[in-house]
Amino acid sequence: MLKAANETKLLDYVFSSENADTNPFEGIEGQNILAMPGRYADSLKDISKHNTLSIYQPLKDYYNALKERGLDQVQNNLGVLTHEEPFYDAVIVRLTKNKTENLFHLGYALFLLKNQGTLFVYGVNDNGAARFEKELHRIGLETEHVYKHKSRAFWTSKDDTKLDIDLLREWISKGLSKHIHDTELEALPGLFSADKLDKGSIMLCEHLPKELKGFGADFGCGYGFLSHYVLSNDIASGIACFDHDNRAIECAKANLHQFISDENRVITFHWQDLTTEGAPKNTLDWIIMNPPFHDDADENKRLGQLFVEQAASALKKGGMLYMVANNHLPYEKLMVSHFSSIEKPHEGGGYKIFIAKV
Ligand SMILES: C[S@@+](CC[C@H](N)C(=O)[O-])C[C@H]1O[C@@H](n2cnc3c(N)ncnc32)[C@H](O)[C@@H]1O
Repeated sequence: MLKAANETKLLDYVFSSENADTNPFEGIEGQNILAMPGRYADSLKDISKHNTLSIYQPLKDYYNALKERGLDQVQNNLGVLTHEEPFYDAVIVRLTKNKTENLFHLGYALFLLKNQGTLFVYGVNDNGAARFEKELHRIGLETEHVYKHKSRAFWTSKDDTKLDIDLLREWISKGLSKHIHDTELEALPGLFSADKLDKGSIMLCEHLPKELKGFGADFGCGYGFLSHYVLSNDIASGIACFDHDNRAIECAKANLHQFISDENRVITFHWQDLTTEGAPKNTLDWIIMNPPFHDDADENKRLGQLFVEQAASALKKGGMLYMVANNHLPYEKLMVSHFSSIEKPHEGGGYKIFIAKV
């Protein structure tokens, strides 16, 4: 679900022609520029008219918005935009809510940037924008900045003679896929419960039946914890994994590789925004899910409710939904209008489990 963002207003402000004296991109032409992770902004569209603008965006809804509005050099995988040698004249980094992911993006941007190229960073103050400007000082670079709309933009020139290469390596290596303690699974920083398994998801596993018959799905699969559980415990023989984040889909593929290579199983992956693109109607026998309820850092109860509506329409008549939710989230009333029976076998410890039949 797309949101109008303060930091986009700031980006458009800094890049507007009225601010020629403080706009580090004023008058640039013919340059290779990368925006990572890029969200639509009118100023990016303007930059793309006179430069080659590539955009990295792993979230399907934001990816679709960029394509629909004519910014179609967008990729869901950063590897595709990586070149062996520093390639970009400028990189624009949008800060996210995750510290490790931000340091990875800053480090990776510096790695991709030519010497003397421009690194431009912007983000909301709540995501610690001022702190990341200090991180650029720590790595040896001087910055200029503008702040407005509860957001901050800052920029620097890459200077190979000043850059602390050990710190750069540390930022990049911390952002790579990590093993999750006490599991066989790996996750990228920035994904849901990347540091340790989610208590709610574990609780859902404890309430699943011994067998899930037919073909079902994991809605919002993340790095594949629930799918891995039902496959490795022989509860399900196959599963369709849906997520709007391509990084999650790639991690889920890696975590489920032993099942994918088994020809007796059908494991499919769908990089899809379930709230707008949905899933095929009346096709599934069961769905397991721990639905999201955050957009960036903000709570959005409607997001989880849309997951419930999509689950109800994707299930066949008689199909079963197995869901965990945080206790305060309002699903009960909505579920009554979509499911013929609803059980709550557990409520406590901050979570509630639903087992519902269409
Ligand atoms: C609470 S996490 C659950 C992850 C995983 N199933 C688990 O139990 O560890 C919710 C997942 O939904 C995904 N998600 C959020 N919005 C989505 C959307 N609009 N469409 C599809 N997936 C979405 C997130 O990327 C995240 O992986």
